[in-house]
Amino acid sequence: MRFSQIASACLAACTLTSAAVVPAEIEKRATSTTSRVADAACTNGPSSRACWKNGYSIATDFDQKFPTTGKTVSQSLTLTNGTCNPDGNGQRLCLLVNGVYPGPTIRAAWGDTLSVTVTNNMQDNGTSIHWHGVRQFNSPGSDGVNGITECPLAPGQTKTYTFKVTQFGTSWYHAHYSSQYGDGVIGPIVFDGPAAANYDEDLGPYVLSDWYYRTAYQINSLASINLAAGGPPPNADNILINGTNKNKNGGGSYNQVKIASGKKYRLRLINMSVDNYIRVSLDNHALQVMTSDFIPVKPFYVNTLLIGIGQRYDVVINANQTAGNYWFRANVATDCLSGNNFYGRAVWSYSSVTAGTPTSTAYTDGQGCIEPSQAAPYWVQPVPSGSFQQSISALDVGLTKAQIVPNGDAIIVWAINTSSINLMWDRPTLKYLMEGNTSYPTAYNVVPTVNSGSWNYVVVQMLPQTPPVPHPFHLHGHDFFLLGQGSGTFNAGSASLNWATPPRRDTATVPGGGWLFIAFNSNNPGTWLMHCHIAWHVSEGLGMQFLESPSQIQLPDQGQFQSQCKAWEDYYSTAYWKKDDSGI
Ligand code: C2O
Repeated sequence: MRFSQIASACLAACTLTSAAVVPAEIEKRATSTTSRVADAACTNGPSSRACWKNGYSIATDFDQKFPTTGKTVSQSLTLTNGTCNPDGNGQRLCLLVNGVYPGPTIRAAWGDTLSVTVTNNMQDNGTSIHWHGVRQFNSPGSDGVNGITECPLAPGQTKTYTFKVTQFGTSWYHAHYSSQYGDGVIGPIVFDGPAAANYDEDLGPYVLSDWYYRTAYQINSLASINLAAGGPPPNADNILINGTNKNKNGGGSYNQVKIASGKKYRLRLINMSVDNYIRVSLDNHALQVMTSDFIPVKPFYVNTLLIGIGQRYDVVINANQTAGNYWFRANVATDCLSGNNFYGRAVWSYSSVTAGTPTSTAYTDGQGCIEPSQAAPYWVQPVPSGSFQQSISALDVGLTKAQIVPNGDAIIVWAINTSSINLMWDRPTLKYLMEGNTSYPTAYNVVPTVNSGSWNYVVVQMLPQTPPVPHPFHLHGHDFFLLGQGSGTFNAGSASLNWATPPRRDTATVPGGGWLFIAFNSNNPGTWLMHCHIAWHVSEGLGMQFLESPSQIQLPDQGQFQSQCKAWEDYYSTAYWKKDDSGI
């Protein structure tokens, strides 16, 4: 074959298999800002992942439009006290979901309705389960935040969360009851749909989590004591990959993955930690990133990838290296001031070799505790900058003193605009709305959004005298557009801001001592928590709620809502453990 023939053969073949190649029609429409309509004719497959069906594709902005399959996917989650020993260091108390840690994957398709029935069989623990990143369009009562969208679910009680799958991609569920999820109430979520890059096989969720030898409730109190003294929280003891790892002294076992030469694999990375930013890499294999949180992005390649707490990246890995064993590395990001006494490892083996301990060499870890700026949405989506300077909400993050426990001493807590969020479990914000009562307590940190259809511009600013720790801020009910991040004090005139192609996601970092500038459209009536996803920090008050279009909120069934609250009040009056933090 002459060179020109090889080149043209490759052009045809490579076009079919290379990533990010979508049918021309979709590509054309995707880049048009007026019509984001998919090509109904194209069928989803290994070399056409951008397609979906019935006029939906990777080019669909799911805030505007999503399918309705008419199918309801039901799942039951039962929470129990148990023990676990994920890294061989020893048994400890764990809060399990269906008897396992991490909990089972919830999987549904774009356009389905999910109906998840949660039974709380734990001792001494209420709970509420949050579906991280899920928009909860017209279902704010299923957001799972005790003290905001429901009363906690008392031991012995059952609740069904019902919501529409309006997005696709990867996420997770977790308890939002103080720091409970650090003891095990977590699990992955997969919503099947189109993808921005092609791959042969889906390896499924890859859960990254920090692990402690003491319980989250113990570490949470130590973190609070340390904060009063101006110190960091205790280090984590290990990093688990899909719930397993060896420990420092050698016990435990590695997660193992088999890959076949010549295939491309989708891997769904999720950082479910309570306190650790984690940087991942697979020796000799670049990661092709195709989503950030629930947002498809124009694929890009990295050797190492920093994942903030609560963030997700779906990546494609091409098994095109010499067949062998390779380390998958999950290191604590010390540049984010995260602390861990060990590190996560998994063994990836080509199927043609005997699995064994890798001798592969690590990539040099990246530096700089910040999201990849090239993670722009797959579709072009600018944010209007016209009048933003008149409508900025300034949220200053700092430390203050507040009384958290009734009749207790005032303690040092995190605060937004000097107010530390502190919720009453039996007085959720939605209850105020049901009663038409607008006298929200100051400590509810209720901030109204702008009118329906308008843009909210929000600056989260770390005050200079506070410890310069990066905070992964997460917004419920919305993705936001990441217009900028920087050090020092935000200055609208001189900050470098990205209005044309801002990354869109639901969790992003406020740099230590710096600022985060985001925007979101008022297009989802509800009451939406925004908080730092470091479990100790939100427990210590670092959160607020946006009250959006209150008159249009679709309230949950009141009978069910009130009986859950009644069961909680009955339980709590004699409960052994009382709330000693923000409640979330
Ligand atoms: Cu993972 Cu309040 O969220």
